[in-house]
Amino acid sequence: MSNSLFRTKNIDKILRDAETMKDDPHAGGGLKRVLTLKDLTFFGIAAIIGAGSFSSLGEACYKGGPGVVFLFIICAVACGFTAMCYAEFASRIPVAGSAYTYAYASFGELFAWIIGWALIMEYSIGNIYVAFSWSDYFTSFLSRIGIHIPDYLTCSYSEAHKAVVENAGHAVNTLTSSTQELLHAWSSAPVIGSLRIIFDLPALVINGLITLLVYIGIKESRNFSNVMVILKLCVVTLVIIVGAYYVNTANWAPANDAGVKSFMPNGFGGVMMAVSGVFFAYIGFDAVSVMAEESKNPQRDLPRSMILSLVICTIVYILLTLVLTGVVNYKNFKDVGDPLSKIFEDTHVGWMQFLVSLAAVIAMTSVLLVFQMGQPRIWMCMSRDGLLPPIFERIHPKFQTPSFSTIVTGLIVGIPILFTDKTFVLDFTSIATLFAFVLVCGGVLLIPRKEKVAGKFHMPYINAKFVFPLLILAAIIILQMANPHYFTDLFKINGDNASLEVSTIILWIVLVVLSVISFIKNLSLIPLLGLSTCLYLLTGMTGKNWAWFSSWLVLGVIIYFLYGYNKSKLAPKMALGS
Ligand code: ALA
Repeated sequence: MSNSLFRTKNIDKILRDAETMKDDPHAGGGLKRVLTLKDLTFFGIAAIIGAGSFSSLGEACYKGGPGVVFLFIICAVACGFTAMCYAEFASRIPVAGSAYTYAYASFGELFAWIIGWALIMEYSIGNIYVAFSWSDYFTSFLSRIGIHIPDYLTCSYSEAHKAVVENAGHAVNTLTSSTQELLHAWSSAPVIGSLRIIFDLPALVINGLITLLVYIGIKESRNFSNVMVILKLCVVTLVIIVGAYYVNTANWAPANDAGVKSFMPNGFGGVMMAVSGVFFAYIGFDAVSVMAEESKNPQRDLPRSMILSLVICTIVYILLTLVLTGVVNYKNFKDVGDPLSKIFEDTHVGWMQFLVSLAAVIAMTSVLLVFQMGQPRIWMCMSRDGLLPPIFERIHPKFQTPSFSTIVTGLIVGIPILFTDKTFVLDFTSIATLFAFVLVCGGVLLIPRKEKVAGKFHMPYINAKFVFPLLILAAIIILQMANPHYFTDLFKINGDNASLEVSTIILWIVLVVLSVISFIKNLSLIPLLGLSTCLYLLTGMTGKNWAWFSSWLVLGVIIYFLYGYNKSKLAPKMALGS
């Protein structure tokens, strides 16, 4: 049994299966190869710049102050190393399944299934957050042009309910305007029986429209996406330029509650509290890899486009964070869901507020589009391997898109819009994506090294034998010198920080073990650094995030044993149909 759980799929077989699908009349002749390097890079940017920069950046600045820029750099480094690993896999296995397919070739079937399961969080649940943020900006855009949608049709039921419970007995004039809107949504909502009719209508509508667009076809989606990317890059650049004019450098050393002035007013702990929001802003470069079967030259273009889009977005984020925290004191971002508009509200630049709302709607539409395209393609690969029912790999004969999977994705994003809220889905998405990144970096360490082939991406091999253990040793010495109680304090696990301390202890144990293995096995440095930085970011997740994520994984494993384990194409013949 244990062997069959770790049965791996041979890389040549994965490539053959993808080719066979093209000749299969039931598969509609496969996906169309139409995407160029520019298209793929645009896809990357389309997926990366969205709700993270337009929405969750506000809360991140409030938690970490201007110093949150360090977290953007750390996340960029982690994503950069991970992008190299994705690129290595993508150039060797240019088929549509992304991290799922890579795990199948390296860790084996059970892990591949777990990754595929975790990617539902990244692609579908992440889109719920984006749809909610899209709705926030869309309704604020409409209100600027004089159209008002009733409050009970612009927020989620759970948000409104939470606001009522948390603010019972508080004087209304002491509450923020967004809390007042939630309370008004609750009190003005129509009631049927004992149920209040409160749901986010614009979020539902945009999800329906995007599902339709993705169903109709890749070419149409590509044209739409390219236009949106150009527009959003122009507006974000304008925000940076106009915002820079209003920067007051004193805001880069604000006083914290104790009156101490610093670039990191809440210390590095405050910066790390923003990890979910900041990391979310980077999610998306990996989505490029699911376009492998629609790319004209995947082995050359996938790696280049991933790295290119990541570099462009990192520069944008660093500048954007410096502008935001330079224009307004970081404390003003408390509960602000539209931070880019906020800075122009405070500086009274009305036309920029209008433009930013419009750009945010455009930016987030492109994110929704890319993720809604990615999810069905991952399911298509899982179905091809027998881990999901065959209907998931069905390609529409006319539109040549994975039709059934596209509709199911629309439902998986749409239905929870009625029940969940933003914070919950943000945390859930970030932890699951980091988990997938850890497995991709780890997977690269497991596949055999290959000779360089001209024209193909090849991750540079740097022997980590001495470098990695020395880096870990240097980190331990520096931390111990900077804070002699650092390691002893970790073991005094206390209630508030328990999950941070436990995960940090586990991190150090893993790093030491990796040092030993890299010394013995001459591991490659780049994936090791990717693995370590992603593991480090995971330590910023709360105990509650871990509890929810673990439950999700347990559910996934149960489903695997009920279906995929027996139906897998790699299952022994006897087990088939049992
Ligand atoms: N990075 C994407 C966004 O910020 C998911 O919306």
